[in-house]
Amino acid sequence: MIKILTKDGTETLLNEEFNEAYHSTKAGAYSESLYKFVLPSRIDVMAKEKEEIRILDVGFGLGYNVSVAINVAKKENPNIKVSILSVEKDVDILNKITLINYPDILKEEYEFILSGHFSSEKIGDSTYRVYKSTNKSVKLKVIFGEGRKILQDFLKERLKFDAVFYDAFSPKVNTEMWTVDIFRVVYGLMTEEAVLSTYSAALSVRKGLIEAGFKIGLVEPLGRKSSSTVASKKAELPPLPEKEKSRIRSSPFSEVFRDKTLNKDREEIWRDWEERVNKRKLSVSKSL
Ligand SMILES: C[S@@+](CC[C@H](N)C(=O)[O-])C[C@H]1O[C@@H](n2cnc3c(N)ncnc32)[C@H](O)[C@@H]1O
Repeated sequence: MIKILTKDGTETLLNEEFNEAYHSTKAGAYSESLYKFVLPSRIDVMAKEKEEIRILDVGFGLGYNVSVAINVAKKENPNIKVSILSVEKDVDILNKITLINYPDILKEEYEFILSGHFSSEKIGDSTYRVYKSTNKSVKLKVIFGEGRKILQDFLKERLKFDAVFYDAFSPKVNTEMWTVDIFRVVYGLMTEEAVLSTYSAALSVRKGLIEAGFKIGLVEPLGRKSSSTVASKKAELPPLPEKEKSRIRSSPFSEVFRDKTLNKDREEIWRDWEERVNKRKLSVSKSL
């Protein structure tokens, strides 16, 4: 495992299957969690207003989003209850977490995460391997398996969440997690006011979220030029500038990723997307 020191001094790892780092090296692992996920999903605001926050964490990874969310919520309101359901396909992920020196500010949260136990649990139609950590105020469950299947099983259980951290690897290498079809499932798992946050700025992702029924907004860039994205059914979001609306309408790259059966190979989803993008590029150049 290759360890990487990110811009803000916190550590991440390189994932060899996807050949991508778990975090933006230019934003910083901790800063990315705070500024692209936890604050955009309004964990600080909800901690002051609610008794309990239910978080859906897609792509548990090295646990930064989870630990920063607990840290921020507790700082705002020491009595807040937080319940987190994380989705993760890598059963070895907890061993990977032990390879990084997590930042001092998150020491308590990582000790909590690492204090858990494995068991199995029936959710929807399937039995999953589950990792649980619990204390007086925080409940964390990591469900191991294929994200698309787990999210559909959550829907069968009629689960609802107040916030969603959507943090798979990039659409190019992890395409199956960025389709309009999986966004529709996630839509069904959110309360009206819940905010989904993601680092992605891809037009195909933004258009996919809109096509799934969300309204979207943009979040200030960090470590790069492009803004990240938030989506919600009803919550007030930062604005989506006219220029971006027009790019989403007219750019060939705003074709959405499709996976109607929610079980296609990522290569097949990518090829189908590329074909549609190329067709649109051709028709744009013909019309010039
Ligand atoms: C960018 S990392 C997440 C980083 C993490 N949120 C953090 O704060 O440390 C993406 C994670 O998504 C997981 N993942 C990718 N594809 C998946 C899938 N189809 N189902 C479930 N998990 C998946 C990867 O194993 C990886 O741990």
